[in-house]
Amino acid sequence: MKSVVLLALSTCITAYAPCLEIAYSLDRATQGLSISAEGRIFLTQRYSTTAAPQAVELLPDNTTTAPYPNAAWNSYNGSTDTDPRGCFGLNGSTKLVAVNLTTDAVERVYPLDALKASNSGIDDVRFNAAADVAYLSDTAGALVVLNLTTGHGVRVLAGETTAKAWFPMMYNGTLVPGYGGDGSTLAVGLDQIEVSPDGVYLYYQPCNGGLYRVETRYVDAALTNATLASVLGDYAEPFALTPSTGGTTIDGDGNIYVSDTNLLAVWKVTPDGRADILVRDEALLWTDLMWVSKDKRLWLPASQMRPGADGLMADGPNYVFTFPIEAGPAAIDHP
Ligand SMILES: *[C@@H]1O[C@H](CO)[C@@H](O)[C@H](O)[C@H]1NC(C)=O
Ligand SMILES: *[C@@H]1O[C@H](CO)[C@@H](O)[C@H](O)[C@H]1NC(C)=O
Ligand SMILES: *[C@@H]1O[C@H](CO)[C@@H](O)[C@H](O)[C@H]1NC(C)=O
Ligand SMILES: *[C@@H]1O[C@H](CO)[C@@H](O)[C@H](O)[C@H]1NC(C)=O
Ligand SMILES: *[C@@H]1O[C@H](CO)[C@@H](O)[C@H](O)[C@H]1NC(C)=O
Ligand SMILES: *[C@@H]1O[C@H](CO)[C@@H](O)[C@H](O)[C@H]1NC(C)=O
Ligand SMILES: *[C@@H]1O[C@H](CO)[C@@H](O)[C@H](O)[C@H]1NC(C)=O
Repeated sequence: MKSVVLLALSTCITAYAPCLEIAYSLDRATQGLSISAEGRIFLTQRYSTTAAPQAVELLPDNTTTAPYPNAAWNSYNGSTDTDPRGCFGLNGSTKLVAVNLTTDAVERVYPLDALKASNSGIDDVRFNAAADVAYLSDTAGALVVLNLTTGHGVRVLAGETTAKAWFPMMYNGTLVPGYGGDGSTLAVGLDQIEVSPDGVYLYYQPCNGGLYRVETRYVDAALTNATLASVLGDYAEPFALTPSTGGTTIDGDGNIYVSDTNLLAVWKVTPDGRADILVRDEALLWTDLMWVSKDKRLWLPASQMRPGADGLMADGPNYVFTFPIEAGPAAIDHP
């Protein structure tokens, strides 16, 4: 009897917000998670701001990871600036890589260097309804639109207020320090993007929040209409005043989930633009790129990006949480 009571008590002490559950406890901090139609799980992981990020597959034991698509594509470690294989910041290195999940071989490489500015950081990627156009966010404050058939692309929204960081980011109640020494703050432009399940709207925002949307027919037409490309911002409309954001995802009903780096929470923004907090917990420490699975769960990688800690990454724990929601994935880019 006594032990039952003690067990209940300790469960209470260690519990997270109701229904927030630990799915995985990993060796490394996870910034993003994707689940294939067959249930294979892919993670992007990083240790610090200096160590190169890694793309890995989480093996069925839910603990072991294997570099994906292989070790060579993940071998850059910052010790050389000539490694051509795949890393952030290297000359000739910014690219979108398509890997065939049947063969695990690289199917196609889309070079992006010609499409970016010197201060660009290409971040998230989403697809249009026909799956022949990719949208990539550029944290310098722009959107890259890429025809996946031809590899032709355009950089749009550069200089638009909707794409710019108009305020520094917030973390756990305070401004995020920048890399420019005392008093500097971190400002990050267009980062999060989502496409509505019917393919009609592209949603986008700078990292400090303020979610806008624009019809994808205008964005796609910008590939072939230079006039439209130069005035695309005129077609954008404000959608919801979201907070400083680590990452987003969208479900099959068109609800957008936005991780709040300030309140350590996740917001839900409905398709009619109603924004509210869904779940809040100190453990949701800089939740990054989320995912929605068929069993109606939201997957939340708490990335441990903690300004001020060593190399900006906290020591862990490196958990991926799940939280129940009312819809499954959007077929458009989530199998
Ligand atoms: C791995 O995680 C999945 C998804 O949460 C779960 O269904 C499965 O049972 C887990 N496998 C092991 C070996 O724990
Ligand atoms: C990076 O790779 C080089 C070449 O393989 C190796 O000599 C070096 O020790 C590695 N550095 C780190 C920090 O792992
Ligand atoms: C990048 O690579 C190109 C082609 O190899 C070269 O011409 C250019 O000088 C390089 N730029 C830098 C900054 O290293
Ligand atoms: C992936 O590889 C398989 C086997 O070679 C091939 O049948 C399939 O068409 C490829 N998928 C794509 C999308 O290229
Ligand atoms: C957030 O800030 C509060 C108040 O300073 C502090 O008690 C708490 O430990 C911080 N949480 C994290 C995850 O840094
Ligand atoms: C992409 O390129 C293909 C081949 O030229 C073309 O048929 C298609 O219309 C283009 N898509 C867009 C959205 O421009
Ligand atoms: C190109 O876009 C402009 C601006 O939206 C529009 O006025 C024009 O009709 C478009 N041209 C074509 C050929 O669709």
